[in-house]
Amino acid sequence: MRCQFSLAAVAALTGAVSGAVVPVAEVRAGAGGVVEAHRISVPPWFLSLAAELDAIAPTETSSFLAPSSDINPDSSSPLPTPIESSPPVQSSPPVESAAPVQSLPPVQSPPPAPASSSEPATSSSSTEIAHPSSAGPTTPASPSAAPTVKTCPGPAQQSTDVYWLHAQDHNGQGAGYAPFTNDPKRYPVFRNAMDYSVVNDGSGDQTPRLQKAIDDDGNGGSRKGRGVTRNPAEVFLPGGTYQLGSTLTLTVGTIIVGDPNNPPIIKAGPNFQGEFLIMGYDKMNGNPETSFMMLVKNVILDTTAVSPGQSITALQWGVAQGAGLTNIQVHMPTGPSRHTGINIVAGSTIAVTDVTIIGGATGIINSNQQVNFKNVHFIGCGTAFEASGGWTVLLQGAVFESCGTGVNMTTNALGSLVILDSISTNSGPLIRFYDSSHDAGHQNSQFLIQNLEYNSKEPIAVDTNGHTRLEATAHVDTWVWGTMVPGAYAPGGAWNTHRSPQLLVDGRYFTKAQPTYAGFSGQDIVNVKTVPGHVVKGDGVTDDTVALNAILAQNAANCKITYIPFGVYRVSDTLLIPVGSRIVGEVWSVISGYGDSFRNPNNPRAVIRVGNPGDVGTIEIQDMRFSVAEVLPGAKVVEINAAGQQPGDVGLWNTMVTVGGTAETSISTTCTSQDPKDCMAAYMVMHLTETSSAYIENFWGWTADHNLDSKSLFTIISTGRGILVESTKGTWLTGTGSEHHWLYNYNFHKASNVFAGLLQSESPYIQGSGEFEKAPAPWTVDPEIGDPDFSWCGPNDDKCRTALATNVDGGSNIALYNSAAWAFFDGSWNGLYNEPCQGKCQANMMRVTGAPQNLIWYSISTRMTEVIVLDGKTNPREDNHAGGWEGIIQAYGEFAG
Ligand SMILES: *[C@@H]1O[C@H](CO)[C@@H](O)[C@H](O)[C@H]1NC(C)=O
Repeated sequence: MRCQFSLAAVAALTGAVSGAVVPVAEVRAGAGGVVEAHRISVPPWFLSLAAELDAIAPTETSSFLAPSSDINPDSSSPLPTPIESSPPVQSSPPVESAAPVQSLPPVQSPPPAPASSSEPATSSSSTEIAHPSSAGPTTPASPSAAPTVKTCPGPAQQSTDVYWLHAQDHNGQGAGYAPFTNDPKRYPVFRNAMDYSVVNDGSGDQTPRLQKAIDDDGNGGSRKGRGVTRNPAEVFLPGGTYQLGSTLTLTVGTIIVGDPNNPPIIKAGPNFQGEFLIMGYDKMNGNPETSFMMLVKNVILDTTAVSPGQSITALQWGVAQGAGLTNIQVHMPTGPSRHTGINIVAGSTIAVTDVTIIGGATGIINSNQQVNFKNVHFIGCGTAFEASGGWTVLLQGAVFESCGTGVNMTTNALGSLVILDSISTNSGPLIRFYDSSHDAGHQNSQFLIQNLEYNSKEPIAVDTNGHTRLEATAHVDTWVWGTMVPGAYAPGGAWNTHRSPQLLVDGRYFTKAQPTYAGFSGQDIVNVKTVPGHVVKGDGVTDDTVALNAILAQNAANCKITYIPFGVYRVSDTLLIPVGSRIVGEVWSVISGYGDSFRNPNNPRAVIRVGNPGDVGTIEIQDMRFSVAEVLPGAKVVEINAAGQQPGDVGLWNTMVTVGGTAETSISTTCTSQDPKDCMAAYMVMHLTETSSAYIENFWGWTADHNLDSKSLFTIISTGRGILVESTKGTWLTGTGSEHHWLYNYNFHKASNVFAGLLQSESPYIQGSGEFEKAPAPWTVDPEIGDPDFSWCGPNDDKCRTALATNVDGGSNIALYNSAAWAFFDGSWNGLYNEPCQGKCQANMMRVTGAPQNLIWYSISTRMTEVIVLDGKTNPREDNHAGGWEGIIQAYGEFAG
């Protein structure tokens, strides 16, 4: 049946799904206005940044971000104190039948599409494509003919050459170039571990040499502590076994990439010294919440040689936005041990994707603020996932195989959890949880299970008192333990969720792994800096527009993969990425718009245009950063018009948009006025237009609240809009963050068939009480693209005239999971992070208007807003839904259909 949010229906269904074992507990009204005392006034990372401001070193050549004192991330994590001490929980018996480590197939990207799906080159005569060009204010220029269809095939045959990335020219003309490092000519962006005398035959202690490969600044020194974009490093590990004797430490602005054809094994030696095999958190860059931009892919971490009784964690991943983990395996001993796969200690990362974890006492321990764990496969873990803190977690496409416990949420430390499209087989209970339904005031540990396949015998949900709350059953459509709107706290509510078939493949929301192009040969790749007849510099000075456009067009026509080595590529006009394109950056190669083309907010123009309206075919983009080089109020940084023939043909992975904050833009020095009208830095972050259909994974759209690469942290920026979604043909936002944009962070305007899993946002720090500009000012509302006009606010109501985290305006079949919408500051800004708002920062966080049909919205977490969802119905308030950081609605169904 369809979604029913009436309490009567919930009560009736609970018995049905849970086999009537569990009596339907009393349904409690929302928390009686009691707000727990654990609320903190200032997130700890702000204090850390403020401390660093004082400690900043005096010259450009020395570390500009002094190392923060050796913080203990545990004690700095803003975790709520458990409301009552949890009763002891039986630890699960060791799993005997875990799959042997060796039987796992090597890390692989999905097989490329068969060559037969190839389309004739640039068949611009196609007439089959609907919606030719009505996508709102798309960029007017780039006069294009009829829509183009161009789908690119996989390799004609699997290449046996060395991995194409390995084969690139990394030293000559085609090498990456970091314009803002001290000595760019000598600075190596790309580092092959083997060039640092690393031995990969499983012998010795490779930590010192591998560490040198990561830290090398090309000048005999270390690049640690020098910010995010001045000293980027891409470290390549060929296949082999790299034995470590002690912890390897990562640094922001780094990609560690293994050969996907033969994934390297980073292995703890039998005498390993240390608590972590790899320390991902970079303490030289502030607290975990500012440990930005670090990516690890195509590697295997292995602790099997370390005695099971020795405590070790393969990866400490207390990192922030722009960071990514993808195509990773973690191998630990099976049976009883003290090994942990990944410990995410605080931090603010967005997505952890395509990870397999074998063995260990615990697969993942997590206290990150908010994160989408996508397609994580747990095999033979004692406990797969332990919630040690944080506000909201999405486990999407998880597989629990032969694990003692699926999710341990017994300590009441996590606010909200969704387990989506997941499978449990041959395991203990899916979830052991603290029952907060009787807590007065603050209620944590709320969760929702949707589309679970369950082949295990033990109950699905067991509370800390050992009471079964959901019996084993082969399939769960939707089951909640948490607050509902309309309704109240439902301890075991069940219903069916109506999900748009257009979003599903094999009954699950579509997902797609980041492509590795593993089967392609060097000949299939074109480095933009080595194309005869075209000069592309990426030096942060040259206008690369014409040459880059020509190369992209040529590569798309020939289905060549475009490699863009690190650089800052300035473009004075739109860069068109045509259908037929596949683009790989190096440590987030930067394309930065500048000049008069992008100045007029009444005639906005795309810096990056992903296909023309109506185009259909392949466009894949990864490891890129798009930026504005100066204040450009008419710059729409990314506009996506293209649609795939298949879901995910058009996709972005580990890609970001930044407005200010980094070395390559003058915004980081010029935007110091308290009045944000003096720094209207970009029109919009990203527009998914009406004709588009795209898959977007681990995307971060950031208007800077502080500078990452310079001595002064202080900056005040206004970007008109965050992410606008007007698409109707299938859109998947799998782990995205959108921060500090002026009118909204997300706007779903007449959109249809949209899935979003994890939408993280922060309101601009300079709105609310005492603000210099009242939204929409200083921007002009454009009704054509559904800009919220704030007409529901009084003219002088500062708190009301603040950015909406998410605005849903009309449309249909919109499925949003795990919103994480935070507000911290208001009014004038001193850059010190020491003046949090008094009371609530803003009046409304989310808004629904235009009567959307079948809006599914599960797990909404908010901070410092009065109203969680301004919907013209009940306008549910944070104070009546206390939990998580401040507010939780676990299931919002006012417009569910
Ligand atoms: C859940 O985690 C807590 C905290 O680490 C631990 O004390 C408890 O034993 C765990 N329970 C299970 C069933 O693993």
